[in-house]
Amino acid sequence: MTNIPQHIGIIMDGNGRWATKRGLPRNLGHKQGIKAIEKTVIACKKLNIKYCSFFAFSTENWKRSKEEIDGIFSLLRDYLKKENNVFLEYKIKVETIGTLNKFPRDLYNAILDMKEKTKSYKDTCVIFALNYGGRDDIIRAVNKLIKEGYQEINEKLLLENLDTKNIPEPDLVIRTSGEMRISNFMLYQMAYSELYFPKLYWPSFNEKSLKKCIEIFQKRNRRFGGLN
Ligand code: IPE
Ligand code: IPE
Ligand code: MG
Repeated sequence: MTNIPQHIGIIMDGNGRWATKRGLPRNLGHKQGIKAIEKTVIACKKLNIKYCSFFAFSTENWKRSKEEIDGIFSLLRDYLKKENNVFLEYKIKVETIGTLNKFPRDLYNAILDMKEKTKSYKDTCVIFALNYGGRDDIIRAVNKLIKEGYQEINEKLLLENLDTKNIPEPDLVIRTSGEMRISNFMLYQMAYSELYFPKLYWPSFNEKSLKKCIEIFQKRNRRFGGLN
């Protein structure tokens, strides 16, 4: 495929509704959501997508019940601890954005361990946004610059201090489930991203869905404020 996006951002939405529609508890939707992540990661590697970021837990998701939050955390931890998980099997580099130190110690350690084990992989990098908020990202970057003594900042400085400093801005941002909002994903980085809102719930997303998103992206005319 030519003209493939270098970075795809995914706001994975609809796990709960996927489960409720089937009369299942919401956490089974999250469990199935991890399977959809696996499929998408494999598809990214196959299609030569360099960066794919997954919005997995927002700074606002702490508002959910303790039961749901604990369920999400243990699914993530168990998946990362699996011996043959997709990242190790397909040599995928794992990165994160967001503040990890609010997570339970076992999950925190499992995340750091996976980042360490995969840090030399080069082809495809997946970025998990965990306890991430676009506003929080900007505020933390500005506060860091203030502490360093800056009186004035510019776009370059800000970009270099966001959590995404080593990652290009997303070319395409997808949000599943039919909701058409950003919900505090990469606010600054998305200034010129192409947006696409497929109707399906995240657990139903697969390689075919990803290919369709890329085809739609390829038909867009990106002008970045210019004319062509
Ligand atoms: C996305 O699915 C997963 C997370 C936000 C963690 P939801 O849990 O938001 O599913 P819906 O939107 O309630 O269907
Ligand atoms: C966005 O989904 C956050 C993640 C996908 C992690 P939400 O389900 O939390 O967003 P809202 O509440 O519908 O805006
Ligand atoms: Mg939701």
